[in-house]
Amino acid sequence: MYTKTQIQELDTLTTDLLSGKMYFDAAEKTSDLIAVIRYHDWKYYLQSTPSINDQQYDFLFKELKKIETEHPNLVRDDSPTQRIGLALSTDAKTVAHSVPMISLDNSYNADDLKEFDERLQKLLNGEAIQYCVEPKFDGSSIALLYENDKLVRAATRGNGVEGEDITHNARVLKSIPLQANFSKRGISKIELRGEVVIANDVFKKLNEDRAKENLKTFQNSRNTASGSLRMKDPSETANRGLEAFMYQIGYAVDTNNNNVLGESLNNHFENIDMLYTLGFKTPQSEKKICNSIQEVIDFCNQWEAKRDSYNYEIDGMVIKVNKLTQQNKVGATGHHPRWAIAYKFKAKKARTKLLDIEYQVGRTGAITPVAKLEPVPLAGVTISSVSLHNEDFIKEKKLRMNAYVYVERSGDVIPYISGVDESSLDENTQEIIFPKNCPSCNSELVREAEESAWRCINLECIAKSEESIIHFVSKEAMDIDGLGRDIVIRFMKEGLIKQISDIYLLPNKKETILALDGWKEKSYNNLVDGIEASKNKALWRILVGLGIRHVGVIMAKKLAKQISSIFDLQAWTTEQLLELEDIGPKVAESIHQFFSNESNIHLLKELERNGVALVHNELNSEQIANTLAGKTFLFTGTLTKFTRDKAKELVEKNGGTILSGVSAKLSYLVAGAEAGSKLKKAQEIATIQIIDEDDFLKLIE
Ligand code: IVH
Repeated sequence: MYTKTQIQELDTLTTDLLSGKMYFDAAEKTSDLIAVIRYHDWKYYLQSTPSINDQQYDFLFKELKKIETEHPNLVRDDSPTQRIGLALSTDAKTVAHSVPMISLDNSYNADDLKEFDERLQKLLNGEAIQYCVEPKFDGSSIALLYENDKLVRAATRGNGVEGEDITHNARVLKSIPLQANFSKRGISKIELRGEVVIANDVFKKLNEDRAKENLKTFQNSRNTASGSLRMKDPSETANRGLEAFMYQIGYAVDTNNNNVLGESLNNHFENIDMLYTLGFKTPQSEKKICNSIQEVIDFCNQWEAKRDSYNYEIDGMVIKVNKLTQQNKVGATGHHPRWAIAYKFKAKKARTKLLDIEYQVGRTGAITPVAKLEPVPLAGVTISSVSLHNEDFIKEKKLRMNAYVYVERSGDVIPYISGVDESSLDENTQEIIFPKNCPSCNSELVREAEESAWRCINLECIAKSEESIIHFVSKEAMDIDGLGRDIVIRFMKEGLIKQISDIYLLPNKKETILALDGWKEKSYNNLVDGIEASKNKALWRILVGLGIRHVGVIMAKKLAKQISSIFDLQAWTTEQLLELEDIGPKVAESIHQFFSNESNIHLLKELERNGVALVHNELNSEQIANTLAGKTFLFTGTLTKFTRDKAKELVEKNGGTILSGVSAKLSYLVAGAEAGSKLKKAQEIATIQIIDEDDFLKLIE
């Protein structure tokens, strides 16, 4: 950590270096650049408050590289340029930990924790016990060895006694300092324990990026972290967004080789503070001192409740006796320390039976096998069905009908099968035979080379049309209010729609629709409003809605910016498409194919004829102002000046957000006549401003 004065000095030095400060001494410039880059790594990776942008950081980094190339004698091991060494690692080396990395005993409920406390009370003859409680990170454990302030080795846990040497990879993690001022605290050699993790948002982005590049996506952050630490090429590791939380000191000695753990370092909470001050990432604000076991239990419960909103995967809490003298008194069994225990949250992994497989036809004709499972509770929800992706997945996981499988769920990720219980693969289980024909139209399925999916290629297949229409009206595409999956399926059954453009003929079919069970004037009007509003949706929404392969929301938004009409895409060759920004060969080829197909052009012409705007215009242009940026809105009661869809559009165009319910997050409730419970609820929250339609229009004027 830096003092205020140091921060001021480093900020000034940053400005000087960025504006090309002159140096007469190369060593001085090198040392200034190292200090400044290390400071900005700390701001970015530990404080999450960067004060320079990527280009400025790159400039400083390049300056340092340049000077080091010119003066090789100035290259220091702890220079940020030396995080990635040039050589790839050779075969993994095994190294012995300074002290064994034993694991933790587990507890699952309040009674287990009370027993743990009672055991300790006895062992400590009733001495008062303070506990330090912190999250149990679900990643890959790591041991870092520092000698004379330098990181000299990093190792995996391995079997606890010996681990794998992964120094080359640990060095690329910016949250692991290459140098830390332990000597100032009289420590000359120290081994730290921690967990390498990937934050949930980073993991999500990593997978999105991989999907875009057609690379296999990762299943969970724990395995990805552990795999990434073992890569041969550290520059690969560097791209995985890994971070290391340090939560324990395993071993520490002074210059005379005397143990300082339990001596000068005698308080776990303060030890973690010290690591934080020296530049490590620690569970700094997460950790808490509890003075009674009841306080521990309450704190664990609080964390379990907010587990899903925390940006790191955690599978429980770790409770540690805070005083190291007490820790030393109670000692350890062969397996685990007596002074610590893990409190495990309710499982995010469950074992259940695979009862059946349903084969679903997607809009591209791809067949997705979906497992029907014996319902099983998993981290707060009941799971009874989960996607099996494709035939290869079934084979890879050695799945058989009636076998027992493990289902996992992490963060807000959808549940998935992580494996099969091999002991259940007996004569009661049967081989899974992937269908040869489309479950909807019975035509023969095809699987092209390099494709993982079997596809139905029948252009007339009803299931495909159904999915295409459902996709077109979906939230991420045209977002047509009043027209969801079930209604599309019903309308198709009734023959009211056969293809996408038929949606726009629905307003002429009032009588037929009103004759259907459950349809009333109000739901019909709602549907018509939704359809009308969709005629002027942003062009990227139409592009998404068309379901062109490889064109998702992000790509559609990029494309829409570069065209004035959807028909522009028809005129461009693959080569011309490739010249557009961010469009790769796969996307270009797929767009070209889509627009070379007569029936697709026919569909677009029909849409245009039915009033759907296929060119940018005043009504469908995206956000035009930031007037409402950061503000949230909810509309209630009868609106007379605009429809709800229009209101939503106006809010979004002005940079605001619509909320679905009244909460403290709401900035404005726009109340029309006869507003009911929402208005009442909003009146009870002082921070919500209650306005009418005119006030709203004034806001965006
Ligand atoms: S302390 C002797 N603290 O949980 C005590 N461990 O089964 C050493 N873990 O392999 C462990 N978060 O990888 C400790 N805050 C935390 C932890 C933690 C995760 C992992 C660690 C260990 C396993 C214990």
